[in-house]
Amino acid sequence: MSKRIVVLTGAGMSAESGIKTFRDNDGLWNNYRVEEVATPEAWAADMELVLEFYNQRRKQLFECEPNPAHYALAELQDKHDVRIITQNVDDLHERAGSKQVLHLHGELKKARSVTDPDYVIELQDWELKAGDTCPKGGQLRPHIVWFGEPVPNITLAAEIATSAEIIMVIGTSMQVYPAAGLIHYAPVDCMKYYIDPAARESSTVENMTAIRKKAGEGVPELVRELLSL
Ligand code: APR
Repeated sequence: MSKRIVVLTGAGMSAESGIKTFRDNDGLWNNYRVEEVATPEAWAADMELVLEFYNQRRKQLFECEPNPAHYALAELQDKHDVRIITQNVDDLHERAGSKQVLHLHGELKKARSVTDPDYVIELQDWELKAGDTCPKGGQLRPHIVWFGEPVPNITLAAEIATSAEIIMVIGTSMQVYPAAGLIHYAPVDCMKYYIDPAARESSTVENMTAIRKKAGEGVPELVRELLSL
């Protein structure tokens, strides 16, 4: 019986692909706090530093592969209507074969014009440099939602969450809003699973089962169960 399964993923989903999470490893990059670099103020103060921060992460991404958790979610589509809402800016869900992926915080392999926000391109190489401009001459910036910027896809994400028959929350500390609030849009009676080695039973979310496992182990196990529904 096909179900609408909504999957909320965070950095822990990609940890076993070799991509660092934000808050597991003191959240530092070259002694900068992510919150200090991923902001419009940092871009205004030191564009080259911000470009370098994302160049390093994009370079790493070109060398990373999806892990068994990404592939298991792609397999889940064989039977169920799977909608992925991710805080991650990597493209590992797509590369594993997931078809319906909504990025809340942007996409690392994309860039957009600072003067024409509708001008968004897919980068073929890991490096984005000062002087890389759109046809109208606007500097290209990472297509990332920085701290303090609006999250354009949150309304659509909330609509998707309200339609869930089953919710899977995978590898997110659920500390960053508005993404962290999405779980509360899910119907009270829908089954919810939280896969994370640090998963905590929730006092505010009904019907939530905590699975204290890494994504690479917990997600394929749960997917096998859901495919037998
Ligand atoms: N499998 C599953 N979960 C894991 C794994 C793993 N192998 N390794 C770590 N985790 C869990 C951690 O226990 C933690 O709960 O992943 C979560 C990572 O939390 P964060 O580092 O806070 O990442 P995330 O929740 O995605 O951060 C949200 O914060 O910095 C901003 O925009 C950035 O999208 C990011 C947002």
